[in-house]
Amino acid sequence: MKLTIFAATGGIGRHLLRQALADGHDVTVVVRNPDKLNQPATAVRVDLAHPDPEALKAAVAGADAVLSALGPTRRAEDGITSTGTRAIVSAMEAAGTRRLVIVSVAGIMTVPSPDRPNPPKRDPGQSRFVQWVLSPIARLFLGRHYADVALTEDLLRRSSLDWTAIRVPLLTDGPLTGRYRTAIEQSVPGGQRIARADAAHLMLRVITEPDTYGLGLSIAY
Ligand SMILES: NC(=O)c1ccc[n+]([C@@H]2O[C@H](COP(=O)([O-])OP(=O)(O)OC[C@H]3O[C@@H](n4cnc5c(N)ncnc54)[C@H](OP(=O)(O)O)[C@@H]3O)[C@@H](O)[C@H]2O)c1
Repeated sequence: MKLTIFAATGGIGRHLLRQALADGHDVTVVVRNPDKLNQPATAVRVDLAHPDPEALKAAVAGADAVLSALGPTRRAEDGITSTGTRAIVSAMEAAGTRRLVIVSVAGIMTVPSPDRPNPPKRDPGQSRFVQWVLSPIARLFLGRHYADVALTEDLLRRSSLDWTAIRVPLLTDGPLTGRYRTAIEQSVPGGQRIARADAAHLMLRVITEPDTYGLGLSIAY
């Protein structure tokens, strides 16, 4: 398949690129710093904080699927997930490319967004400990990023694309196992962690799974 991978120099992105090449896909990457690439691929340089619509449209045109592991690498970059995804969605709609898989955050369905100002208070997959202790702590430190990811999912729902948001819990640098649990529109019960390699594995797997279109799909061990 012909794939376009955004943020292929990041934690999950590197695994996406490595696994996609190993699977024999024809890959174009869109990165802000091609010098960071550690695998050979056709690279398009775009800083998604200042996206170039024509370069993005050309990068996604003709792709069977687009994958994005975009996210802030420091707090000053909070907001990049929605800014970049908005540009990716516009480019795909302009180019007629339909399939998009992005990285999102476990439990995001409980975070208010412009289109969902009153989300459910409880994620049925979360334990009371996560709901009352871990989530509030995480929101204290990552609240702006969570709000931006919730807005990003709004953008997907408003789009005409066949999208899937892969919602990840705490990321680790553990090995690829291909063995993990998933849950639709809720967190994986008791699932606290996932390796970046396995998150990438699921992103590539769902490309050809139409029953995941228009859904948030959580992953954890
Ligand atoms: N860490 C966790 O435990 C955790 C938990 C839950 C959810 N998540 C979600 O998972 C996401 C991905 O995690 P990760 O570990 O793969 O993140 P990461 O290593 O920080 O990767 C972020 C990627 O986004 C790229 N990027 C940032 N700003 C950009 C811009 N302006 N233009 C183009 N590219 C830009 C970075 O490019 P460079 O390589 O050039 O810097 C990098 O490739 C996080 O952002 C977060 O939303 C993480």
